[in-house]
Amino acid sequence: MSDGFPGPIAAIVVAAGRGERAGGGRPKQYRTIGGSPVLARSLRPFLRHDRIGLVVAVVNPDHGDLYRQCAPQRDKLLPPVDGGATRQESVRRGLEALEPRRPSLVLIHDAARPFLTGAVIDRVIAGLAESEAVLAAVPLADTLKRAEPDGIVTTTPSRDGLFLAQTPQGFAFEAILAAHRQAAGADGTFTDDAAIAEYAGIPVRLVAGDPANTKITTEEDIRMAERLLSAGRETRIGSGYDVHRLGPGDAVILGGVEIPSDRSLIGHSDADVVLHALTDAVLGALAEGDIGTHFPPSDNAWKGASSDRFLADAVARVAARGGTVVHLDATVIAEAPKIGPHREAMRRRIAEICALAPDRVSIKATTNERLGFVGRGEGIAAMATATVQLPADSE
Ligand code: CTP
Ligand code: MG
Repeated sequence: MSDGFPGPIAAIVVAAGRGERAGGGRPKQYRTIGGSPVLARSLRPFLRHDRIGLVVAVVNPDHGDLYRQCAPQRDKLLPPVDGGATRQESVRRGLEALEPRRPSLVLIHDAARPFLTGAVIDRVIAGLAESEAVLAAVPLADTLKRAEPDGIVTTTPSRDGLFLAQTPQGFAFEAILAAHRQAAGADGTFTDDAAIAEYAGIPVRLVAGDPANTKITTEEDIRMAERLLSAGRETRIGSGYDVHRLGPGDAVILGGVEIPSDRSLIGHSDADVVLHALTDAVLGALAEGDIGTHFPPSDNAWKGASSDRFLADAVARVAARGGTVVHLDATVIAEAPKIGPHREAMRRRIAEICALAPDRVSIKATTNERLGFVGRGEGIAAMATATVQLPADSE
């Protein structure tokens, strides 16, 4: 979307660090807080923002698998770019990768800040109508002390006119790309992009950041984030059930995966009973009707539709209410085909659709002991439950 500017507004989320200060089994941007990975949370406000047309993550090439597990499927999310040895180098690589797309503006954000809101993005974009370089910042709240290494205080500097720099920082694209290229040849490294703009002589303007938009640096920050996200949240469980008739054909689609079979499921959409039951389970947890309320079979738009959009839509409704899906569990009830060999592919596909870690998706299967319609091979049924966390004040 050009939005009054001559090209799209792009966002770069730098995630190529090793998170050494936070420690833990995996780099901090791939740790889970409140049910979703830090990086998924820091990408989300850009993916959801209607003025941002392109989003790219800069990722450490050693973390490719971790990235794939947490990156949502969105048209505006470009393939990840390999990061460099420093944050500065990672940002420059992200800018170089965006250049052929000719964005007018770019917002640069640290993956380590998962609490960014659309309101801060709005303020940075608004600031860019006035200046070529804008950063989100907050005034200092605490009194400052300067001390010797032994802890003896020497002075109490005034905090007047001092601010803490946050991200996102927004720039006219061509100007910051040129500044980064220039800075790449300079001595030393810069710790933020506003400093690179200053170095290149571009005037930089502050807009109001958000005190909640903190950076995760240490293990304690991860624990704090987890506490913050669980406070004031309630857990809800929804259930879903679906059945489709079997007819002539050579494959069934279950959990988004095509499985060879001597019969096919018949239905208005692709008849994927697993995704339909899961969609109803998620909608049930929200108490927002069922799949037919949102995608009526009378509407020809959904004829033959791939059911992943139904589930993705239900998950987006959870996100729109400030919630997260924490767990999905489905049972397939079928005499044939055998589900076991396809279980992992189904888990991975469902996790991908919902931007969840695969270990939060469970697929089970049973036959119906040849009893009833399932037992006679007339159809396949699926049951599902979804566990969802919502802000406690959510309706
Ligand atoms: N970053 C990056 N490329 C690097 C170093 C850092 O993209 N070579 C990113 C980090 O992933 C993070 C942001 O820059 O989102 C801010 O860096 P920092 O908080 O220092 O993260 P890390 O470098 O990962 O952590 P540490 O310094 O503790 O190792
Ligand atoms: Mg670092």
